[in-house]
Amino acid sequence: MKRYMKYVRPYLYAFILGPILMITEVAGEVLMPSLMADIINVGALNHDVGYIVGKGLSMIGVALIMMIGGIGGAWFASKAAVSFSADLRKDLFRKIQTFSFANLDRFSTGSLVTRLTNDITQVQNLIMMGLRMALRAPGMLIGAVIMAFIMNRQLAMIFLVILPIMVVAVAVVIRVAFPRFTILQKKLDALNSNIQEMLTNVRVIKSFVRGSYEEERFARSNAELKNSGLNAFKIVIIQMPVVMLFMNTTTLLVVWFGGNQILTGRMPVGDLTAFTTYVVQVLSSLMMLAMVLLTSSRAIASLKRITEVLDAKVDLTDEDARYSQVPVKHGKIEFQNVSFRYYKNSEEKVLDDIDLVIEPGQTVGIIGSTGCGKTTLVSLIPRLYDADEGKVLVDGIDVRDYSLKNLRDGVGMVLQKNVLFSGTIQENLRWGDENATREELLEASRSAQADEFVQNFTQGYETELGQGGVNVSGGQKQRLCIARALLKKPKILILDDSTSAVDTATEAKIRETFRTTLKDTTKLIIAQRITSVMEADQILVMDEGKIVGRGRHEELMKDCEAYREIYDSQMREEVLA
Ligand SMILES: Nc1ncnc2c1ncn2[C@@H]1O[C@H](COP(=O)(O)OP(=O)(O)OP(=O)(O)O)[C@@H](O)[C@H]1O
Ligand SMILES: [Mg+2]
Repeated sequence: MKRYMKYVRPYLYAFILGPILMITEVAGEVLMPSLMADIINVGALNHDVGYIVGKGLSMIGVALIMMIGGIGGAWFASKAAVSFSADLRKDLFRKIQTFSFANLDRFSTGSLVTRLTNDITQVQNLIMMGLRMALRAPGMLIGAVIMAFIMNRQLAMIFLVILPIMVVAVAVVIRVAFPRFTILQKKLDALNSNIQEMLTNVRVIKSFVRGSYEEERFARSNAELKNSGLNAFKIVIIQMPVVMLFMNTTTLLVVWFGGNQILTGRMPVGDLTAFTTYVVQVLSSLMMLAMVLLTSSRAIASLKRITEVLDAKVDLTDEDARYSQVPVKHGKIEFQNVSFRYYKNSEEKVLDDIDLVIEPGQTVGIIGSTGCGKTTLVSLIPRLYDADEGKVLVDGIDVRDYSLKNLRDGVGMVLQKNVLFSGTIQENLRWGDENATREELLEASRSAQADEFVQNFTQGYETELGQGGVNVSGGQKQRLCIARALLKKPKILILDDSTSAVDTATEAKIRETFRTTLKDTTKLIIAQRITSVMEADQILVMDEGKIVGRGRHEELMKDCEAYREIYDSQMREEVLA
């Protein structure tokens, strides 16, 4: 709870003024029935028009004050709630930005979206309602009970019977509802994840004609959401008629006993009207309290989910970095006995005792069957993940001792699953370096063999890319991603299968420019095709998390069985083709 005070503090005035202004409304509501009773008991009985007009005017006055209080209260309550949630949302978003890849593997995107939107809305609703009802409901409850006792003690005894029964009933409702709301939010998560996945991959779904399957899957999670919603809300729905039953029964009792008192002359007629109004006020304020508690049972479930994200330990930070000011200068890479697994309790290691030295400026090819750990190996260099055992060093310094910014500025990585963002081509390239000159931009683009096709677009570098870069071809996208990384002028450049969709001739040109223009840059190139890495200074052959061969092409052809196999199979394919 304490952590959320920080979102209250800047709007403390609204958090206080909201409930206080609502109280004026309560005072009015409690006063009104007694003014009404006076009009009937004194004014009407004595046919005193002056008295009736006077009381009537004061009723109007009270109503006006109530209105101002009500509007003011609602305004401040809304202001407090909306500001609170906006700030909270901002922090939540910021926290998610600090998440490591490992953190992101654990929360699904859909669940994060729900937490950022719906869960925060639940909390906002609670605050808005809570501030309006916090003093109003108990105030009205207590006020009306007191007024009732002042007016007619005997009749007011009814409350002593009715109230405890009501409180128990409300408590039961809340106990039952709470777990149901937790489930409801979970189902909402599932639905959002589903939508998210479906919308981002709608093209794949269409090409596999999996539309109807996806519809079914969606219908399933939609139905589950509906059912858990019904399950939770039927409790809320039941509550209303139950309270009405109590209210009508009590009114009936009041009229019955009150009527008898009037007949025996122990109670003025006007008091009965007022008294029934108090009954309604007491019970409806109890209902309001119940509503607040119900809303809070849902909001607390949501708040827990928000706290889970805010409290998530970011398992990859640079807080303890010893050389946080040092940038990557040369681009030397060393792996010392590095082991890694994605699931810390699994038996199998994804990387097993890797030892490696790469000198600055070298070109290193990495090759091996799919799933053997190539991507994982290079991910440890810019610290997308941290090694479990052993050390990864860049320029002789443990990567954990760099600030993440310096490290990642020094290591340009074109991810295997890379994306472009909506915006112009130029804007996308400038992710690499916001302040790059036009000439630098063109140079990077030329090195990646992207300039030619970009110039061919009618709008050139101002061409708008669709979300995820849908309006360029696969090979064009890869080249833009390479250009984006080049613009960073990194000391270490990692291309993870980044030319797989580029034709061999263009790929050869890219390799050629790398050789001439990126002499000082350490280049790691993961590839499926042996031709992509054949000229490298050092080729690493990986298998099942281990390096099973290293050396130049000719050496490997001589000594490395696995390499020869890959070579033979690819050459055979070439001949067949
Ligand atoms: N984020 C992840 N969470 C859990 N397991 C993962 C994750 N990424 C990869 N793996 C597993 O780790 C192993 C190595 O994967 P990696 O992506 O490094 O292979 P790769 O050699 O790059 O394959 P490819 O040539 O297909 O890209 C695989 O068995 C894969 O299932
Ligand atoms: Mg890979």
